[in-house]
Amino acid sequence: MTKRFEGKVLLATGAGSGLAAAVARRYTQEGGRVVLLDIDGDKAQAVAAQLPGAIGLACDVASEEGVRDAVAAAMKTLGRIDAAFNAAGHADFGPIEEWTLERWNRMMGVHVGGTFLVCKNVLPIMRAQGGGAIVNVASIAAIVAQPFNAPYGAAKSAIAGFTRQLAMEAAPLVRVNVVAPGRIRTGMTEPLWKMRGGGDMDKGTAQAASLNMLKRVGEAEDIAGPVCFLLSDDAGFMTGTTTVPDGGETLL
Ligand SMILES: NC(=O)c1ccc[n+]([C@@H]2O[C@H](COP(=O)([O-])OP(=O)(O)OC[C@H]3O[C@@H](n4cnc5c(N)ncnc54)[C@H](O)[C@@H]3O)[C@@H](O)[C@H]2O)c1
Repeated sequence: MTKRFEGKVLLATGAGSGLAAAVARRYTQEGGRVVLLDIDGDKAQAVAAQLPGAIGLACDVASEEGVRDAVAAAMKTLGRIDAAFNAAGHADFGPIEEWTLERWNRMMGVHVGGTFLVCKNVLPIMRAQGGGAIVNVASIAAIVAQPFNAPYGAAKSAIAGFTRQLAMEAAPLVRVNVVAPGRIRTGMTEPLWKMRGGGDMDKGTAQAASLNMLKRVGEAEDIAGPVCFLLSDDAGFMTGTTTVPDGGETLL
């Protein structure tokens, strides 16, 4: 494994599980250190305990003070932030008539607000250090219609739009890109697939796999590769881009 992240520090949100935990593992394997934030601090610390030099902190990314304090704590402990991966989020489906404004605001506050707050807090640090890279997480729900998924799709579309605009503002020192994953096996999707399979996880997983060209669901490592590429100097001429690791689903 090459050491693309030697001497560098990644701050990742939603990192007690799934995509961000996989990105943190890969970043560490390639020589970097990581700060793992999750609303569930125990989960963040459990992942951190397996990674050399890592710290795990409880942080609700929808909280302005929470993000500010977590970024300050990361700087105090690890001394720099070179990369950020904004993956904190939750799935929430349902007919639009059943959505309250509070439920909608939470969807927007965590996904869009959390991404905004982390970017706002790390950008001055990265600029002062002379450079940095941010990857935000949208979804194929920002590209294609899905049943009863309008608020999530709206939040993910906002993250994609925010990323494109911020890329211009953050340039030339900081690059900002977005990934829009397809169906990836994580703590978020497994319960959904089980439900959709009528209680049968294998059936639900096979149904999800049937929707793309490669006829398998993605694993968290399928996202860690592209994300770590975008966070690395290998992607030094890429900013404002959308990468779609979805097994080809959105082309069908
Ligand atoms: N798994 C997929 O198929 C898929 C596809 C497209 C996009 N995504 C997106 O990827 C991101 C990561 O999801 P995942 O699949 O790894 O799910 P996951 O449930 O495994 O991990 C998400 C983590 O975010 C944390 N979290 C939730 N709300 C938070 C908050 N307010 N503040 C801080 N942490 C919070 C959770 O505790 C959890 O540990 C999400 O934004 C999700 O919408 C996932």
